[in-house]
Amino acid sequence: MEALRALIDRLEQDLSLQQPERLRERIDALDRLERYLGSPANSGADSVLDARLRSRVESLCAGLEAANQRLYAAIRHEIRRDAGAAAMQAWAPAFERTPETDGDGYDYLDALLTGVLQLEEPASEPAELSADMVFYQPTPARRIFELIARAGLAEHDVLIDLGSGLGHVSLLAAICTGARCVGIELEAAYVDCAARCANALGLANASFVRQDAREADLSTGTVFYLYTPFTGAMLDEMLARLRREADTREIRIATLGPCTPMVAREPWLRSVDTPKADRLVLFRSRALA
Ligand SMILES: C[S@@+](CC[C@H](N)C(=O)[O-])C[C@H]1O[C@@H](n2cnc3c(N)ncnc32)[C@H](O)[C@@H]1O
Repeated sequence: MEALRALIDRLEQDLSLQQPERLRERIDALDRLERYLGSPANSGADSVLDARLRSRVESLCAGLEAANQRLYAAIRHEIRRDAGAAAMQAWAPAFERTPETDGDGYDYLDALLTGVLQLEEPASEPAELSADMVFYQPTPARRIFELIARAGLAEHDVLIDLGSGLGHVSLLAAICTGARCVGIELEAAYVDCAARCANALGLANASFVRQDAREADLSTGTVFYLYTPFTGAMLDEMLARLRREADTREIRIATLGPCTPMVAREPWLRSVDTPKADRLVLFRSRALA
């Protein structure tokens, strides 16, 4: 209990925690306080947390959460007036310093993206996955920032996220860059959520299509992203289609997760750095003869 008291004292005195840019520290403090509140020793009728201490924790959490909500609302406002790139890029970490491992771990940047996008819950449960398809999981926000930087996404680009889920990748890329960002996704309920979010934020350069990625129109894409939407024969089929696109122009492919080694085996692609399953890897198609 002494550790909790010391933490509360410290957080109550640190008024700088209300500053918008201290999001990381607020998320960290909220995690710690909520762990105390949620621990079995401190919940229910037998709680050892006295009422006064509990009320201090609750009011601290409310103050920190309110500061987060103000930040998210301010960024949403900037996005709607077409100034979202600067507001979001200010949070982009130097990707050279992001951890070598832990490719799927989430952090305060995911809290930021969740707060800014305010995606609705999908209206229905996803259909059962067929063989080779991978269940939905969003790309961690810091990896999306990394994709934007390493692919050098710019106005002349068309980013196609193959298996786009709720659309985090296309939405953040559309906010941060002038690129046209397209999400292709089989689950209709996910596509609806992503499209509603793009509409609410006034993102004219983000669009979502309900389709099997293997049948999508790839002809305008310059950068293709795969956060392992599928493996096995489905991935082979997708790679064969991408290869046909690379016969017509140079394309870039970014991957994250277990599909990376399979993509790395393709002789028509060269990776910009050593392919690792838990890192974002950027491939370029070999120059046309
Ligand atoms: C691991 S999630 C990645 C989501 C998103 N790209 C992201 O990074 O946040 C994979 C997504 O691919 C979708 N998917 C799987 N097979 C697909 C297919 N054949 N065509 C389109 N989408 C597919 C799944 O429904 C799921 O939403």
